Amino acid sequence: MNLFDVYPLNDITITKASGSYVWDDNGIQYLDMYGGHAVISIGHTHPHWVKRIEEQLAKIAFYSNSVKMPIQQELATKLGQVSGKEDYQLFLCNSGAEANENALKLASFHNGKKKVVAFHGSFHGRTSLAVSVTDNKAIIAPINETDNVIFLPFNDEDALKACFEEQGDQVSSVIVEGIQGVGGIHLANESFLQLIRSLCDAHNAVYIADGVQCGYGRSGKFFYHDYAGVDADIYSMAKGMGNGFPVGGILISPSIQPKYGMLGTTFGGNPLACAAALAVLEVIEQENLIEMAKQRGMYLINKLKGISEIENVRGKGLMIGFDVPPKLKDLKKTLLHQFNVFTGESKPNVIRLLPSLALTRKQSDEFLEALKEALETLQVPESQEAH
Ligand SMILES: Cc1ncc(COP(=O)(O)O)c(C=O)c1O
Repeated sequence: MNLFDVYPLNDITITKASGSYVWDDNGIQYLDMYGGHAVISIGHTHPHWVKRIEEQLAKIAFYSNSVKMPIQQELATKLGQVSGKEDYQLFLCNSGAEANENALKLASFHNGKKKVVAFHGSFHGRTSLAVSVTDNKAIIAPINETDNVIFLPFNDEDALKACFEEQGDQVSSVIVEGIQGVGGIHLANESFLQLIRSLCDAHNAVYIADGVQCGYGRSGKFFYHDYAGVDADIYSMAKGMGNGFPVGGILISPSIQPKYGMLGTTFGGNPLACAAALAVLEVIEQENLIEMAKQRGMYLINKLKGISEIENVRGKGLMIGFDVPPKLKDLKKTLLHQFNVFTGESKPNVIRLLPSLALTRKQSDEFLEALKEALETLQVPESQEAH
């Protein structure tokens, strides 16, 4: 049987990982500035995370959500402490798309309305509702097309006000990434998030903060949305939550009431996933990783701004992007194949940095050095290349 061929792959097989490094099957070491797509929060194979999962595995890996699982409450309590959203409720699932799917559905159950406001450049996942609020026609199948989604320009406060004036009574929810990731690292303005909050309050709509990529400490606060000083009604989470163990969830404001059967899942909240998620929060706390991400991000952004060949350096914490001019279009490949550094990208010309929150200062310098050398390599005039 063949694999269903949907991923354009790098010709690299990774067989080992530790902290911010991975190794391939030839023993070559790579610096991971991509974090397996923003997933590695506390560092690859962190010993506490490995131990927590192993200990849980030896006790029980799975039972369905038909019995009490105290480890779910343990996770909810810890998550409340670390995120500061102690009065919120936690629903556990398995991925980012599923988290957003549940958030959008719950919003509609809550206020009985159907329309969703989403933004140009957004990415919220590939399942039915999540993909319909994603601004990429190429991944929306005919069956996912709907008139219920209103796409507005990102950060356009006038467009948002006008939309609510016209059809606020029909808007069930507004879904917004604090920092657009797949869209190319674009930060929501604080005043924009504050306006979403006030319009949702005025029109009985639900503010959904997609924190799947920018959440879990990556931005230097638990949720990037916290920079705006307002609370969302629902926060979706996934990537960094399990450090590679598949787990997702939504934090739900106390104003939204649960009902039996309203949401549900077979695997969500299984003991093994909870153990992984608890280990992540424990390490985030013990190693002060949210503050570390903030500091390291400032350091990197500052240094990157001093590199003249790259453009529009932007980001917050360890979610950083910059534009690559057309003549340096091979920068990502050069970093990977000649300098053994993984980075992320956003088409057409953005390099995204999404490393572990435990990236050290030394590793940051190692990246900056590799970047400078790669830029030099790419700028050698063609006449010299033959020599
Ligand atoms: C902001 C955002 N939301 C949702 C998702 C979907 O997450 P998953 O791939 O776990 O379904 C992603 C994935 O990249 C994302 O970046």
